Amino acid sequence: MVLCLSRLAGQKDLEFFPTQDTIIPLIRSYLSFPEEGTTVLDPCCADGDAVLQLCPDQFHFGMELNTTRALQAKATNEFIQVLAGPFENSTISNRAFGFIHLNPPYDWVAGGGDRYEEIFLYRASNYLAHGGVLELLVPVSLFQYKGAEVIKHLLSNYQDIRIYKYPEPEYQLFKQIVVFGVKKPSERITATPEWLEEQVALITTGDIPVLAMQDAPIYHVPAINPGMVKVFRCNHYDAVLARSESRTLSILQSQSMPVLKDQLTAPYPLDKASLALLAVGGYVDGKMPGHYLLGQYENREVTSHDIDDDGSEITITQKKSSTIFRVLLPMPGPDGSRILTIV
Ligand SMILES: C[S@@+](CC[C@H](N)C(=O)[O-])C[C@H]1O[C@@H](n2cnc3c(N)ncnc32)[C@H](O)[C@@H]1O
Repeated sequence: MVLCLSRLAGQKDLEFFPTQDTIIPLIRSYLSFPEEGTTVLDPCCADGDAVLQLCPDQFHFGMELNTTRALQAKATNEFIQVLAGPFENSTISNRAFGFIHLNPPYDWVAGGGDRYEEIFLYRASNYLAHGGVLELLVPVSLFQYKGAEVIKHLLSNYQDIRIYKYPEPEYQLFKQIVVFGVKKPSERITATPEWLEEQVALITTGDIPVLAMQDAPIYHVPAINPGMVKVFRCNHYDAVLARSESRTLSILQSQSMPVLKDQLTAPYPLDKASLALLAVGGYVDGKMPGHYLLGQYENREVTSHDIDDDGSEITITQKKSSTIFRVLLPMPGPDGSRILTIV
């Protein structure tokens, strides 16, 4: 069977070209994972099958634009979190992952100019910890369009870079390559256009080593924040996902006017900050019988110091927000006070 990588066929299913089952064990043989586990990101994880096969028993975080596939990934219960939405709209802690499996959509961004592969690669690089391992799977054609830019990005941000083409018959069928690299602090690269052109030509003519089963792993993925990623969210409302997750739609429907019943949108479960805003506005007063509830949203500035990618010390001033609830209890609590503060 010849896979048709035609643009229209791919666009129809959001560029869903899953990592082939025959390729996964080969990629796997290049990698070792720490016993205590590491945080793993697949920013376009589909149903999760590829990343879960590549590195089982790790702390997986996924994102997927196609709702059906995102729900399938969630249903595996193997992910710490799966977000349904575009990776471009995500907010994720920098340097939070030990390993990234990146098999991005293969297409031009609407309006031309940029390729999704580039956008995903540049964005994903921010989320890999120093020493973390990138495994990137892209079509050779990316290098015909954007070869010099992609190579410059890889050299600036990664060390121990190895680029392999698929073995046959997969290479003839899919024309894909696999790039491995270890994240390093960003550095400026000076390379002549001629040298870059030569590197691009090696890839586009297939003059690179073939991905093959390794006797011993080459890349040792470090243990990074096992299970903990401080910020992992996406500002995208997905109605199907919200309906499957929301536990409040039926309550809203039972309380709303008949004329509005069918027009209600399922809300995602509220986070603490949104709940506080409702409390500050008085919208939850009386909804907790016997209690008076006050929500407060506090903003303050916090200064900290960090080491930048080039090794110099930087001062970071961040706006921190915290949410505080004060509840007036019907009876005094253990400390004798009737005001309970929940931070
Ligand atoms: C090439 S497939 C890779 C799937 C899987 N990671 C794998 O390796 O088998 C690309 C996936 O990206 C998803 N996708 C397309 N655009 C996206 C976007 N902007 N943000 C997140 N996922 C996206 C597609 O729905 C598809 O499932």
